[in-house]
Amino acid sequence: MRKQFELTAVALLLSCLAHLHVSAGKCPHAHVNLETGPIGIASHESCTLAQAPSSYDRAQVDSLDIDAVKADIKHVLTDSKAFWPADFPGMEAHAPEGHYGGLMVRQAWHCSGSYRSWDGRGGCDGARQRFFPEGAWPDNTNLDKARKLLQPIKEKWDVKAPGALSFSDLIVLAGDTAIQAMGGPVLGFCAGRIDDADGSASLELGPTREQQAVAPCTRGQGMCEQPLGQTTMGLIYVDPEGELAVPEPKNTVAGIRSTFARMGMDDKETVALIGGGHAFGKTHGACPTGAGNDPSESPSNPWPGTCGSGSLKGKGPNAFTSGFEGPWTSKPLKWDNEYFKNLVEYDWMLIRGSGGHFQWQPLAKPGATKQPKDVMMLTSDMALLEDPEYVKYVKLFAEDQAELDETFKNAWYKLVTRDMGPYSRCLGKALPPPQPFQRPLPPPPSQLPDFDAVKADVTSLLKADAENGAKFTHLAWQCANTFRATDYAGGCNGARIRFSPQKDWPSNKGLDQVLDLLEPIKAKYDTLSYADLIVLAGTTALEQGASPPLSIPFCGGRTDASNGEGTEELGPRSYMNVSVAISDNTKVMGLTPRERVALAGILRSPSLQRAAGYTDSWNAGGSPSKLTHDYFKVLMDNAWEPTKSAAGVDEYRAVASKQQRFMTPSDEGIRTTPEFAAAAREFAANELRFLQALAAAWVRIMNADRFDGPAGNVCDKPSPS
Ligand SMILES: *[C@@H]1O[C@H](CO)[C@@H](O)[C@H](O)[C@H]1NC(C)=O
Repeated sequence: MRKQFELTAVALLLSCLAHLHVSAGKCPHAHVNLETGPIGIASHESCTLAQAPSSYDRAQVDSLDIDAVKADIKHVLTDSKAFWPADFPGMEAHAPEGHYGGLMVRQAWHCSGSYRSWDGRGGCDGARQRFFPEGAWPDNTNLDKARKLLQPIKEKWDVKAPGALSFSDLIVLAGDTAIQAMGGPVLGFCAGRIDDADGSASLELGPTREQQAVAPCTRGQGMCEQPLGQTTMGLIYVDPEGELAVPEPKNTVAGIRSTFARMGMDDKETVALIGGGHAFGKTHGACPTGAGNDPSESPSNPWPGTCGSGSLKGKGPNAFTSGFEGPWTSKPLKWDNEYFKNLVEYDWMLIRGSGGHFQWQPLAKPGATKQPKDVMMLTSDMALLEDPEYVKYVKLFAEDQAELDETFKNAWYKLVTRDMGPYSRCLGKALPPPQPFQRPLPPPPSQLPDFDAVKADVTSLLKADAENGAKFTHLAWQCANTFRATDYAGGCNGARIRFSPQKDWPSNKGLDQVLDLLEPIKAKYDTLSYADLIVLAGTTALEQGASPPLSIPFCGGRTDASNGEGTEELGPRSYMNVSVAISDNTKVMGLTPRERVALAGILRSPSLQRAAGYTDSWNAGGSPSKLTHDYFKVLMDNAWEPTKSAAGVDEYRAVASKQQRFMTPSDEGIRTTPEFAAAAREFAANELRFLQALAAAWVRIMNADRFDGPAGNVCDKPSPS
C-alpha cells in the first residue's frame, strides 16, 4: 500500500514538471486555430521567430554568462536593421545608425506589465507576448520587430548554451541592458523564466471568451475594472490619450492609480516607472492612417505601416506605433530626470499630433527666458500634475536624481520580476538579494525535528476527539489552497494563515482554535515550524482517517513568516457563477479538475464548516474522522436547491433528503461542471481510486510552494535520511 501511494505521488509530480521540458527546434502548432476569440495570431512568427521553446536547463541558466549576453544585446542596440530602422540616427556619437534602447525598454515593460495581482496572470515569464492574445494587443504594435531584432541572439545562445536563455529572459535582459546602455540604473536580474509553447495561459487576459467568463469588462471598454489589469482591453494600463480618448488629464488620474495598484505598485513607484520609462525613446505617429493590419489580419507581416513608400514605407520617419509623435525629453538616449523637469518647468498646450491623436506641446511659462525644447507629453503624463500625491513625486524626482535612480531601479526590478514568485525561483549570476515583493522566508533550520515523534503527538490528539482530524485537515487545506501556479504566490510555507489578512477571512473562521489545539506540540519541539506542523497534522489525519490507513509522504523543512504581509490578493476571488469559479480556481492553483475533485473529498468538520458537505455517515451518527467516498455519492445522488445558512452564507440543500444535507457553492460547482462531475462520479463508484487520487493531489498541493529554482521542487530531491 505504502509503496503504491508514494509512486503515484512521484509520478504526478513528474508529470506536472514534464510539460516544462519541451523539445527544442520544433514548431509546435499553428496558433490561428485556437477557438478562443476574435483574433488569432498565425503560425508564421510563431514558427520562424522566437517560437521553438528551448528546453529549460537549470544548470545552464545558473551558469549563463549574462555579461556576454548583455554584450550581444548592446551590439544589437546600435546595429540598425533595414526591416525596422533605429530611431535617432546620429544623435549619439557611439550610435551613428540610431539606437533601439527605447524599443527594448518598451518591449520588456509591455511583456511584464500585463501582470495582474488579482489572479497572478500575465507577466513576462512565458513570453506569451509572442502569441495570441497578447501579441495582437494594440499596445504591442510593432513589438514583433523588437523580437526579430533579438532573434539572432536567441539562436546563438541556443547553440552555445542550450537551455540557458529563454526568450522571456532575453526580453527582460534586453530591457535591462538598454537601460544600462543609456546610463540608467538596474538592480539585477532574476533568471529562469521558461517560455510557454503558446499563449493559452494568457487567454484570461483577453479579449477572449475565457476572459469574458473570468474577468469581464463590465463597465465597457475604457472603464474596465479589476480583475482586468487595464482600463482598456488591448492596452497595458490606460488610454494615454485620456480616459475614453478625451484629453482631460484630471480624468486619467483614477485609472492610472487603479491600474498600477492592480499590479501592486504604489504612487511613488508609479510615478518613477512612468517618468523613468519615458526618459527613453519616443512615440511613433508619423502619419494619420495607422500601422496597418495586425497579426490576426496579416500574420506574416503584421503592422506593415501605411505611410511613406519604397523601402521606408511604414518605417523610420514613417513609423506608426501608438499614433502619438515625439520624445518626452531632449536626450531620449540618456537616462536622467528631464521628464520630470519638463513637466514642471513648462506650460503645456493641447494639440493634435501628426498621427491624429491629442498630445501636449510645451510652452514657455510667462516670464521664462528659455524656449521650450522639442518634446511632448501624453494626457496620461499630464495627469501626474493633477493629483497631489503624484505631483509631490514629480517635484521630488525633478529635484533629486538620486532619489529617482533608487526608486526606478527597485520599481523596475519589481515590474519585471513580480510574476516569478518567491526568491527561491530565481537563478543566475546577477541575482540581487531577496526583495520585499518576493515575500522572503527565513531559511530552514539545519536540524529538522523528529517528525515521527511529532506525528505520534498529532495521533494522540486525533484519538482525543473524533472531530480533530477534520479540523486539522481543514486547517492544512486552507493554509495550502492559497497557492497560485500563475505567479507562484501563496501556499502553506510561511504559515501566514496565522496572521491578518488571512486569519480574518470568513473562510478561515475558527481556525485560530485549531491552531490552539496544536500549540502544545509546537512548543515541544525547538525547530518545528507551524507550517510543517499544520501540513503534518492534516496529512496524519487523512492517513489515519482511511481504513486501512493510507501512507502519504510528508516533506518537512517549511519555515514561518513573521507576518502576513503581501498576501492580501490571495483572498477568495468572485466569479460569474459556481462553475466558472471551480474551473478557474483549479487552473490558478495549477491542479487538474480530477485533482481538485479528489481534494473536495477530504475530511470536513461539522463545527467549523456548518455548510460544508455533510455526508451520510455524519448524519447517521458516524464520525467526521472517517475518510470515505460518501461525499461523492451524496453529492451526485441527490438533487440540490440553493438556500442560505443561518449565518447568511450561500449553500445548497438536498431536495428530497430527510436528513440535513448541505453543500457549498464549490461543491455545486463540481456537480454542475462536466469535467469535475465526471471525476466525482468516478470517485463515487470507486473508493480506492478516490483515496489514491486524494493522496497524490494532497502531496502536490501541500508541496507546491517548495520551490527549488523555476521548475524544481525541494521535495523531489532524494531524502537525506
Ligand atoms: C457560467 O458562466 C459561464 C460564462 O458566462 C457560462 O458559459 C456558463 O454557462 C455559466 N454556467 C452556469 C451553470 O450558469
